[in-house]
Amino acid sequence: MLSVLKAAYSGGAGKVLKQRRICTLSWRTVVVALALLPAAVGAPPTDSMEQRVQPCIACHGEQGIDLESGYVPRLHGKPAGYLYNQLVNFREGRRNNRAMVIMVSHLADDYLWEMAEYFATRDVPYPPPASPPANAQLATRGRILATEGDPARDIPACQTCHGERLTGVLPNTPGLLGLPSHYLAAQLGAWRAGTREAAAPDCMHAIAERLTGMDIQAVSLWIAAQPVPADTSPIAGPVAEPPMECGSVPLPGQ
Ligand code: HEC
Ligand code: HEC
Repeated sequence: MLSVLKAAYSGGAGKVLKQRRICTLSWRTVVVALALLPAAVGAPPTDSMEQRVQPCIACHGEQGIDLESGYVPRLHGKPAGYLYNQLVNFREGRRNNRAMVIMVSHLADDYLWEMAEYFATRDVPYPPPASPPANAQLATRGRILATEGDPARDIPACQTCHGERLTGVLPNTPGLLGLPSHYLAAQLGAWRAGTREAAAPDCMHAIAERLTGMDIQAVSLWIAAQPVPADTSPIAGPVAEPPMECGSVPLPGQ
């Protein structure tokens, strides 16, 4: 058991949860591991959905939890298809955060889908946006990438897929608001480095490869500073005329 707990905080998770934070979060991990153990060994779940997701919320919070060195993203209100894709991605090795891999490695598709649907239907206010980037050049470059893209380098505007309000598009494209710039930048960097993948064709990998380090910084800072609109719900989709094809694992029932 102890080795499972230690493993949850090493590897991928260690990048996000710095050493000194491990101690302050370790009680959560104990709760998590104990609560998930019956599911992990295949016992039929007898709990309510609220009980089942308690361990998830202990780590993720309702609005996400910002650590000095990283971020545990919010789950509430994201499209169910997107959340389900991520849970399967962790289980099948396309995303490699160690704690998350341990969380889902023994869970069946239906169980993952039920949790994805649960979080998708929660409506929790977003945290306030960050301050705009102090560097005007970065701010301008970030805005242009998000709203117009860079046709010369074949980079489509983020808004074309993530929605005009950047609140996501059903069924599989997440909103980008309410996420701090260092989380956004870490995800784009991971795609570029090949340590985060999505189901093929992996459009975000192709896009991240076309972004420079400065672009990643600019677009992440700009997005994190956008005010959260009154209506944060994802747009009914799918994305009209997507500039590139994006893959998804088959959703249950498809
Ligand atoms: C020990 C802490 C921890 C626990 C417990 C935990 N998570 Fe996570 N989760 C994370 C971290 C850290 C990330 C970000 C990983 C990364 O950067 O790739 C993450 C990412 C995710 C993502 C991807 C979100 C996105 O926007 O891409 C989903 C979905 C998710 N977790 C669902 C769950 C569910 C469901 C549970 C409960 C069964 C759970 N998590 C329990 C730490 C945790
Ligand atoms: C062609 C459509 C498309 C375009 C254009 C696009 N995205 Fe995405 N993006 C997606 C899809 C689909 C996903 C979900 C991928 C998955 O399943 O992991 C995603 C996921 C992401 C995530 C992960 C969010 C999280 O919670 O972990 C980030 C960050 C992101 N995109 C940033 C951007 C930025 C910045 C741009 C503009 C430079 C952009 N995207 C342009 C389709 C697109």
